[in-house]
Formats: sequence, C-alpha cells, structure tokens
Amino acid sequence: MPSTSQPIAQSPAKPSQRKILVTSALPYANGSIHLGHLVEYIQTDIWVRFQKMRGHECTYVCADDAHGTAIMLKAEQNGLTPEEQIANVKAEHEKDFADFLIEFDNFHSTHSQENKALSELIYSRLLENGHIASRSITQAYDPEKQLFLADRYIKGTCPKCKSEDQYGDNCEVCGATYSPTDLINPKSVISGATPIEKESEHFFFKLPEFTEFLKGWTRAGHLQSEMANKLAEWLDAGLQEWDISRDAPYFGFEIPDQPGKYFYVWLDAPIGYIASFKNLCDKTGKNWEEYWLDDGQGDPNLNNGTELYHFIGKDIVNFHALFWPAMLHSAQFRTPTAVNVHGFLTVNGKKMSKSRGTFINARSYLDHLRPEYLRYYFAAKLTSSVDDLDLNLEDFIQRVNSDLVGKVVNIASRTAKFIHKSGGKLSSTIENPELWQTFVDANGTIAQYYEEREFAKAMREIMNLADAANEYIAAKEPWALAKQEDQAQQVLDICSLGINMFRAIATYLKPILPEVTEKVEAFLNTSLTWDSATEFMSGHEINKFKPLLTRIEKEQVDAMVESNKQALAPVQAAPEKASGLAEPLAEEIDFNAFAKVDLRVAKIVKASHVEGADKLLQLTLDLGGETRNVFSGIKSAYQPEDLEGKLTIMVANLAPRKMKFGVSEGMVLAAGPGGKDIYLLEPHDGAQPGMRVM
Ligand code: MSP
Ligand code: ZN
Repeated sequence: MPSTSQPIAQSPAKPSQRKILVTSALPYANGSIHLGHLVEYIQTDIWVRFQKMRGHECTYVCADDAHGTAIMLKAEQNGLTPEEQIANVKAEHEKDFADFLIEFDNFHSTHSQENKALSELIYSRLLENGHIASRSITQAYDPEKQLFLADRYIKGTCPKCKSEDQYGDNCEVCGATYSPTDLINPKSVISGATPIEKESEHFFFKLPEFTEFLKGWTRAGHLQSEMANKLAEWLDAGLQEWDISRDAPYFGFEIPDQPGKYFYVWLDAPIGYIASFKNLCDKTGKNWEEYWLDDGQGDPNLNNGTELYHFIGKDIVNFHALFWPAMLHSAQFRTPTAVNVHGFLTVNGKKMSKSRGTFINARSYLDHLRPEYLRYYFAAKLTSSVDDLDLNLEDFIQRVNSDLVGKVVNIASRTAKFIHKSGGKLSSTIENPELWQTFVDANGTIAQYYEEREFAKAMREIMNLADAANEYIAAKEPWALAKQEDQAQQVLDICSLGINMFRAIATYLKPILPEVTEKVEAFLNTSLTWDSATEFMSGHEINKFKPLLTRIEKEQVDAMVESNKQALAPVQAAPEKASGLAEPLAEEIDFNAFAKVDLRVAKIVKASHVEGADKLLQLTLDLGGETRNVFSGIKSAYQPEDLEGKLTIMVANLAPRKMKFGVSEGMVLAAGPGGKDIYLLEPHDGAQPGMRVM
C-alpha cells in the first residue's frame, strides 16, 4: 500500500514580490452598471485577487467618469445638479460593484480635486512642450439651448438615401457617413431647434508629432498582437490632431487661463486613474509618484520597479493606446506596462437588447442570482484575446450547476461525513500519491494561466482535476467500504485525499469565488493560500460541512429577464426624437391604442411605507368593488397618513408587475419635477371610485 506522511513535492519557488497597479475603465456617471460592464470588472478583479494571493503588492483603483455633456443633460433631465447626479450614481455603482464582490482598493471620481490638479499639471506640460495647438473651428450649435452639438445630438434626413431620423454622423439605413451639416432638415435632439453653424476657438493635442513614438510603443509588447495590428492600420493612415477642449456650458474642468473653455471629458478621464491612486496614497502613505512619474531609466514596463496595467473594452482602445501613452510621454509620466483589451458581451448570441430583456442591469441580476455564478461563468469564457463573449442563459445554468455544484462542491459533500464519523481528523496517509501529484503539478500551470488572463484554460484545468477527484471517489466507493468494520482506516484515507483534492481545487478557484472561499476556509479550518494548496494536510482537524452553493434554478433566470424587461420598458418607450420638449416624446400612438388605457378614479384606503424601499409607498386602492395593491414612487412627496381617504387616478388595466417588494396591480398618475414636488392627480366634484376617466 503506498503510504507517506511527508509532503511529496515542494511548492514552486516563490516569485519575488512585484508592485502592481491595476485599473478598470471608469464607468460613466450617467447610467447603471450592466452585465456588459461586468465582463471587465470581473476580469480585472479576478486578476487582482490572483496577484494578491500570490503575495504581490497589487493595488486596484477605479473611479466614476463624471464629466461631459451627456452627464450634464442627464442631471438636467432628472432635475438635479450635475454634482447631485454624479453623487447618486457613484453610490449606486459602488453598491453594485461591492455586491458583485469586485474589491477596489479605491473608487474615486474624476470630478475631484486630485484630478483637477493632475489634469492641470499634465496639460501645462503638454503646453510647455509645444504639443498644444489652438485654432477656430465651425460646429453645429443649438441656438435655443445655446450649446454646441456633438454629432450624436443632431438628427435629420440622410442626404444619400433620404431616410428620416438619422444621426449626424452616419445613416443606419444605407451606411453613408457624412457631417451633420450635410443632413437634410437637421434638428437638435435636445431642443428640436434647427442647428446653426458657429465658430469658436478650440485646443488640440498634436498627436501626429507622436507617430514615431507610437509606432514603437504599440509594437513593444504592451498590447495584444491583434490590437497592435489594428493600431498599425490607424498609424499608417496618419493621425489627426485631437480636439481636447469644449465650450461652456460643459460639466468638467475649466482650462487654466481660458475662461469658458473646458477640458474634453476624455482628456481628464484617464488622468482619473492617477487621481484615484493618489487619493488612496494620501490616505495610506504610499508614494503615487513611484508608480507614475517617469524614472528616466527607459523601461516603461518596470518604472521604479512598479508595473501598471489598464483593463479596457475594445471600444476605447484609441484613447488608451494612442492618446494616453502620447500624453503621458509628453508630460514625462511613465507609460503603461500593458493595456489589456477584452471583447464585448452578447446575450444568447445577440447584442444586449432592452426589449428582449437581455440588457441586464447589475441590480436586476443581483435581485435574483448570486454574483459568484456569473463570476465563474465569465471566468470559464474569458481568454486573453479581444473576442466577444456570449452569455447564453441556458448554458449559464447548465455550466454553473454542473461544474461548481455537480463537480466541485460534490467532492467535499461526499467525503466530509466519513471524516466526521472517524473523529473529524484527516489521515496522514496519502492514499494515492500519483493522483495527488497531479494536483500539485497543476499549481504552476494554473498560476501561469491566471497570469496570462487565460481564465478559460485555468477553469478547464481545474475542472479536469475535479473530474479526476470524482472518478477516484466513485471508483473507491467509500460509502460501501464504510459498511465493513475493518475498512475504517481505508475509508478515512480515501476521504482525506478527497478533502485534500477539494482544498487544492477551492484554492485554485479562490480568485473567482470569494464568498464560497470563506465558507470553505471555515469548513477546512485553514486559510487557502496559493502555495499551501500543494501541501497535503495530514492529521488536520476539519469542521462540519455546510452547504457551499446551491444550484441555479431556471425560474430565477426567467424572473431576472422578466423583471429586467419591466424595469427597462419605460426607458425604451422614449426614443430620442426631435421635439421642443425637455424630455423627448414617446413613440406616437393612435386613438385605439390610447383607448386601451383604462383610467379610473381610485380611492386610497391605505398607504404605508415599504421596508427597504427608498422611493416607494404601498397603496391599497378601492376601485368601487375591487381593491388593488399598488407600489408608487411618491415617497419623497407624500406622507402615507396624508394620502388615506384621498381620490386619485390610476391605470387600472396595466398588467400586474412583480417588483422586489411584491406585485403591483396598476399605476397611479402623478406629475411634477420630482423630489418633494410630485403631485398625484386628484379628480374633483362628484368623482366616485371606479369611474372611468377620459
Ligand atoms: N467612461 C469611459 C471609460 C473612461 S476610462 C478612462 C467608458 N465608460 S463605459 O461605462 O461606457 O464603459 C466602461 C467599460 O465597460 C469600458 O471598458 C467598456 O468597453 C466596457 N463595456 C461597456 N459595455 C460592454 C459590453 N457590452 N461588453 C463588454 N464590455 C463593455 O467607456
Ligand atoms: Zn441613408
């Protein structure tokens, strides 16, 4: 019988400690986090957790991207100041990220004092170095809103194919590209006014002067080869000067000595990486300059011994691999060690869609499913390439259930009870040293895959180990042996190897599954570290096994898609169509469609707060013979006790909607700018509950 009580292999030599700074792209502060974004934050978080587990000094920073016209307009639409708007969104983003177990060392904002100072510093260096040009340009201007209009804020008829309602830069029908001045009957999307042309002075970053530098930089191993090739095409086609200024009104930083001129959001956005890190350093006493100022040694990979990695999606490569390194280079900052680009998320093989319910918000997901399912699924699909990845909802259920629950958790749940029967202590005998050796050998391979962002390969390797462990246990049948008294030691040996194999697998999955890991650590009565995964735990006492992860039920996924459809429906109904209204009109409906809406007078018989809801009140409405339960977002304007006994108007034939707090059976009508000023519609004179309103 093979037997040893020695660790049979040494853990791989510990690599020396690295100093690594990692960023994910800064999400815009005008919208919610969705599953597409999460590809990036989950990818980055896994990589960072892996580096930390390996003992490196790794710091992960991010921030909200708070500037720009879109955010300014969004705030206006919501009746908020831009500062209020970005504060609300920041709180929401931070909660979403935390609940997806994304662990930033710092999450800041580009609208911060650090970012202002750093943007001014970098700009002043570009200016001193002669890399800023200025000249007057002519642009479309909204005379009503008194705002210069970016192409996406202008719509009109395509000059080529005459299709209506096309954006200012290209036609979605015939594919023609043009400038907004070519549009027939152009309109400002914001006010509906006809844009005029207006001149103003702009500032430009002289990107063409960096052509040679960028040709070298993009080929020096900082990028995936497919990206380097793409950039080579752009570089060969010739670079243009980059317009880095915008005219007031603009939400951003005013350019020093240029009243009324602001930095374009994309100038200060990447500087936000530095600002977030500096903000952290100011709290912890770390030195931000070590990571960012060029040490003059000519090795961008290892500036002052520090490494810098940006994780981004393929849509923002030009900003990160052309403008950004050129700016950093001019300003005597270091350039990134690598810009790691990922592809886009599709759902069920198609672009995420609001009407199909597959434009899934982080919160809709979290309302129905555990974050670790998605973390695992993305890990199982992520490679180091920029290929898009698909979230197929059927495959998601099947894959997570079969791999995590069926394979991994199963190893522990099948063997733990026999350890407890024999006293709770693991054997000091390695029942099958060859099998155990494969778990030891996998340590380096899996580490290598994580390092290279080949997560799919790492997951495959780990699941192969899980298969081997399950096959071993199935062949040995400890449950059958346990019935024979003289086999007690053999059962303990088999199950102890089972538990040790489980521990190695759980360790290798630790960057993916932080919550499961905590439970495993409690169960195994030890902390999981990368190196100790290869040390056979012998004579070690473990705790009682408790369920680690339950299966995904199809109903949960269906409910998520459904509630997400509901949540997004009103947003959907308001296409950006030119009109004179601050909020664009919804799609036009005919009288028949309108007549289908059954508006009734309703009496509020009961109103109460909803526990855990910031905006909702729960209303019991009497329709004159029928009562309805309705949730309404009017808490900011009404005290429940003031509502009871009042008459109001409701949409009585709206399909019931399942909300987080219960089913809502209709909708009450209200108007007003929001906050304290929301007014329920109150019918007058002789109205009776149940009366139809026309
Ligand atoms: N604010 C800019 C980034 C500034 S970085 C100095 C921005 N914000 S974003 O909110 O639109 O996107 C944030 C990140 O999420 C980007 O890297 C983007 O590529 C990524 N993704 C957004 N939608 C995505 C998918 N559907 N799929 C995968 N990644 C996606 O861009
Ligand atoms: Zn066209």
